[in-house]
Amino acid sequence: MTSNEQFLIQKVADLIVTSSKVVVFTGAGISTESGIPDFRGPGGLWTKYDPEIFTVQRFLHDPEARKTYWKLRGSGEFVHSDVQPNPAHYAVAELEKIGKLDCVITQNVDGLHEKAGNSPDKVIHLHGTMEKVKCLQCGRQYSMDEVYRWIAGGIEVPDCPECSGLLKPQVVFFGEAMPAWETAEAQRRSENCDLCIVIGSSLVVYPAALMPQYALQGGARLAIINREPTDLDPSADVCIHEGAGKTMSAIMAIVREKIC
Ligand code: APR
Ligand code: ZN
Repeated sequence: MTSNEQFLIQKVADLIVTSSKVVVFTGAGISTESGIPDFRGPGGLWTKYDPEIFTVQRFLHDPEARKTYWKLRGSGEFVHSDVQPNPAHYAVAELEKIGKLDCVITQNVDGLHEKAGNSPDKVIHLHGTMEKVKCLQCGRQYSMDEVYRWIAGGIEVPDCPECSGLLKPQVVFFGEAMPAWETAEAQRRSENCDLCIVIGSSLVVYPAALMPQYALQGGARLAIINREPTDLDPSADVCIHEGAGKTMSAIMAIVREKIC
């Protein structure tokens, strides 16, 4: 680790130690070390597939787009059911354990923050979660694992077993509004935190990407941990363009020393 990296890590650790209401904002980049590809990084999913397939309009009205969607989903290329948290997720869970975390605001649908130990009521999902699928006709819900089993059994486009209605995962598709309560709550918590730490997001998808900006407007400090630069870097107190796992582990090692 270079001396500059060490200096930046020390700076983020100092910001955490002197804060009491930390909001962590995460994107797909926090889960790549768990084996889930991101979207816009090198080799990311949108470098291989047309995000057009994932608009809510196409999914609802184009049977071919639905078939492609479920084929990709079932291929395990997107979210693997056996996927495990990595050191970056555990570092965020530790922030909660030591009483520093106000909440995690995540764009991810993989459920890894809860799996790493964050309390569900401390995790705000802006883009939904992959756990459940809902029938748009009768409203029945099914677990995604059950739907994956139907796909593995040869079903190309799963419909509701009860009413043959259209089944849609509980994630936010492009062109679909974000959940109202989660969006308002994420804004409120961002505006009232004293430190916002962005981990693994290109900060290009709105309105989610507004959250770190709300934090700045509320007077919070901002740290960005992301392999690639983001447009918000110039406004941050600290930017670390390294892997989230090793960076967050190094930061928490210093925090632990200082507060324990
Ligand atoms: N450590 C640090 N940064 C990483 C790592 C890592 N191990 N792996 C990837 N990154 C960085 C990439 O360089 C990239 O800048 O994480 C960022 C991920 O950005 P995106 O792929 O754009 O993911 P995200 O910001 O979460 O996208 C937002 O877009 O497609 C929609 O709904 C989807 O929620 C997603 C939203
Ligand atoms: Zn139904």
